[in-house]
Amino acid sequence: MNQGSALVQKTRQLAQATLIANWRDGFAIPSARLYPFQWNWDAGFDALGFSYFDRPKAYAEIRSMFRGQWTNGMLPHIVFHRPNPNYFPGPDEWQTARSPFSPKGIQTSGITQNPVFGFILARIAEHLAPSGDLELEPFLREMFPKVVAFHRYLYRDRDPHGEGLVYIHHNWESMDNSPLWDSILARMDVSRARDVSALRQDNKRVDASERPSDENYKRYIHIVDLLKSVDYDEQRSQSIMPLMVQDVLFNALLIKSNHGLIKVAKKLGLDAGELIEWNRRSIAALNTKLWDAKSGFYYSYDLRAKQRIPIKVVGGLMPLFAGACSPEQAQHLVRHLETDFVAGPDWRLCPSCAANEALFDPLRYWRGPVWVNVNWMLHHGLRHYGFAAQAERVRRDTIGLIETHGMYEYFDPRPTNAGGATHGLGADAFSWTASLYLDFINNTAPL
Ligand code: SER
Repeated sequence: MNQGSALVQKTRQLAQATLIANWRDGFAIPSARLYPFQWNWDAGFDALGFSYFDRPKAYAEIRSMFRGQWTNGMLPHIVFHRPNPNYFPGPDEWQTARSPFSPKGIQTSGITQNPVFGFILARIAEHLAPSGDLELEPFLREMFPKVVAFHRYLYRDRDPHGEGLVYIHHNWESMDNSPLWDSILARMDVSRARDVSALRQDNKRVDASERPSDENYKRYIHIVDLLKSVDYDEQRSQSIMPLMVQDVLFNALLIKSNHGLIKVAKKLGLDAGELIEWNRRSIAALNTKLWDAKSGFYYSYDLRAKQRIPIKVVGGLMPLFAGACSPEQAQHLVRHLETDFVAGPDWRLCPSCAANEALFDPLRYWRGPVWVNVNWMLHHGLRHYGFAAQAERVRRDTIGLIETHGMYEYFDPRPTNAGGATHGLGADAFSWTASLYLDFINNTAPL
């Protein structure tokens, strides 16, 4: 890529304009069309994007997110800073005041999301350090204990047997409507579940074929209703939650975030002993419980059915990003990337679900389309293990999709001559697409 080319300059301007347009006096929304509040992992990626052209907004973005942190450390997946009728389920559905841990004076959802802030803080710290910004160190000192408190919550409340792997209890905490959850959702007792199809807004705001189905939404809301029924008490929820999964993506990002916090602790002269111990246990457990030596792939573990979920999704490649696998394991993952995840020569890396899975759907949210945040993490993971050509291909495919179609939420991996869409998918003007484009073109350092 020529950093100075007119197309790069034009797309950089569009990326910055997208982030500025999505700024709402203290935080960024992911996209006005679908997501009018602040989301958790979006906030991490978006802060990184702002850090390349407006540092105060980068700091404000992360501070705003952590205003929603619960007193037990839980970092919610949505912070409802101000009312907006254009989203379901809003704060009235979540009713998080039922929990003694939810913050007073600010409304949030009652579940969390993939932990990204450790590695985001490290990335921001590394690229801003040479600027001599006097705000940086106080900002890191302020945020470090809050991110550690989030991880402590995960290891304490979401890993009851001290295995080193934390569980998610809602699919919205990780890859949303991925085929990973299908078997769990199918066996759920929905006799008391509500039909929420009329309340949904998402599938009226973008093409319904690109969003989860009504049958699935009914189940997603039922899980929220179950959490409410125990007032978000984690221990009580453990006996009733239908979905309890030690997810590869979630745990890989936790390991990567622990690594990031260890780097930040070193810079600040703080003790990293607890973080090092967490990672020792998590990496060992990831490589035993979630690694399938026979197929050479990582699979999430369904704690209810007591078995791995044998579906190849992009989350299974994320131990590369976490730096948690051996060179041999990395070889296996790259073999799968180059064979299972593409079905033809011009396909774009990397589909969110392997193209040869029966449940692959190139258009529908997390069931096949390419996501920019996932590709950005995969790029860095491939580089870390010395797969320079594959890393470069992921970067080129990602940048190419954005420069061709714009700041879309996700993209069809198929080339147009194989039926691929001629436009971006989901919401347009999507913040983390813009943010990570800026990281790709501004920062060539490894992560
Ligand atoms: N991703 C889900 C949504 O689309 C929940 O955060 O609203």
